[in-house]
Amino acid sequence: MAAPASPEREITNMAKPLVAILMGSHSDWELMKHAADTLDNLAIPHEARVISAHRAPDALHEFIVEAEKEGVEVFITGAGMAAALPGVVAAQTTLPVLGVPLPGSAMQGLDALMSIVQMPAGVPVGTLAVGRSGAINAALLAAAILGRRHVDIRERYAAFRKKQTDDAVSRQVPGGQ
Ligand code: RP5
Repeated sequence: MAAPASPEREITNMAKPLVAILMGSHSDWELMKHAADTLDNLAIPHEARVISAHRAPDALHEFIVEAEKEGVEVFITGAGMAAALPGVVAAQTTLPVLGVPLPGSAMQGLDALMSIVQMPAGVPVGTLAVGRSGAINAALLAAAILGRRHVDIRERYAAFRKKQTDDAVSRQVPGGQ
């Protein structure tokens, strides 16, 4: 039997999702699609599903079990209002769970932020910024996590960061010196 590939040299299998993006409602997609777009730009295979923690708890459990079996390595979860989804996912897996608080309620996402960031000690959710920035950064953080094992993702993420830095340094205001 061949020796297993070194984790450091593992190359991503493009057919299998490495990231599962979960959201509590179809109304969350407008912002959570920024996570999917960012993963697309880094050629990171992913799937996106709407599964509410409070409306479909059994379906959520089944999805998490299946996703782990299929090789998902990071969960990105987006939810608004009481925002139970990230914590409920984290309760059922030891894989990294990233939480994106979403606006849309009367409290404009402060409610979701407080809910997701305040997981009691023992079951962590890595909480990102509210809304679009959080969705994008969740995908970038997923890339950083996956990059420890998948050398191709590590290289694409490093290239993205370098280009961002180069652009920031070179872009100046019109008429500036
Ligand atoms: C949460 O409640 C969802 O994540 C969504 O942000 C919010 C409102 O959901 P809908 O009533 O629009 O389905 O569970």
